[in-house]
Amino acid sequence: MKTVHTVAALRAEVASLRSKGAKRGARVAFVPTMGNLHRGHIRLIERGRELADAVVASVFVNPLQFGPSEDFEMYPRTLAVDAAALEAAGCALLFAPSVDEMYPPSGTGGREQHTQVSVPGLSDILCGQFRPGHFAGVATVVAKLFGQVLPDVALFGEKDYQQLLVIRRMARDLALPIEVVGVPTVREPDGLALSSRNQYLTPSERERAPALHATLEWAADELRAGRAAREIESACVERLKDAGFRLDYVSVRAADDLGPPRDSAPRRVLAAAWLGGARLIDNLPC
Ligand code: PAJ
Repeated sequence: MKTVHTVAALRAEVASLRSKGAKRGARVAFVPTMGNLHRGHIRLIERGRELADAVVASVFVNPLQFGPSEDFEMYPRTLAVDAAALEAAGCALLFAPSVDEMYPPSGTGGREQHTQVSVPGLSDILCGQFRPGHFAGVATVVAKLFGQVLPDVALFGEKDYQQLLVIRRMARDLALPIEVVGVPTVREPDGLALSSRNQYLTPSERERAPALHATLEWAADELRAGRAAREIESACVERLKDAGFRLDYVSVRAADDLGPPRDSAPRRVLAAAWLGGARLIDNLPC
């Protein structure tokens, strides 16, 4: 596996990966990440290998998607370990740009005057309500990475379900010829969704953390049994408060656009809640 740090080197390496394929050119899959990789990220690489001839990953902690009081500075950066894990998983190429490479400070006005990609509506609800600007930051960097890598297919985890839908809509609205594929959430044996932010949990918070997934599983069962969404949302709030969480939201939505649930369409129950300094999110089909 090669690691490149500039867009120019990335373009040259992707072109070389493509020319190694059959006559029509090899298919390229792309997995964008912020690094500090765990089995959830690696699962995306594995799925990418199933869907394409070569997988390109990126590691970039994107300042644009962090709020002013969020964890940009302390977000764990572990590039050498990440590169080894990607290589072991069969990733062909790692793009690890600096902030200046992604948002050149001179001439272009830097981050402040950078073009923004916004996905209105979908970005303003649920997590977007509690993290203003977050999804514009995500959509902007992913649009940019898509233009740099030019993949055929890109993989995103269902753990960040709203993010997956934001990216899917962005690709559709901007007519990007890139297939956006969702990959099921990878969990610890006790149900906690793997996340780089789990390491912010103290040992006693870590013991309580699986209550988030357990509550959503309970909710999904009850909803499938026909209980009303409103009733289940309120019961989840109580359960999570009792388990020591400070809640951002628990909500039952339509799975395709996160609008109000429709009886005829698949639904998703989603939650975001704080345990100490860690903000945990999770969701399940219901
Ligand atoms: P990051 O949090 O590093 O996640 C990178 C990808 O891994 C995302 O698609 C995320 O949904 C997926 N992922 C994380 N935990 C997972 C789990 N437990 N199971 C399955 N997939 C999981 O999400 C981002 O980075 C950024 O917002 C990014 C898209 C890279 C843009 O900066």
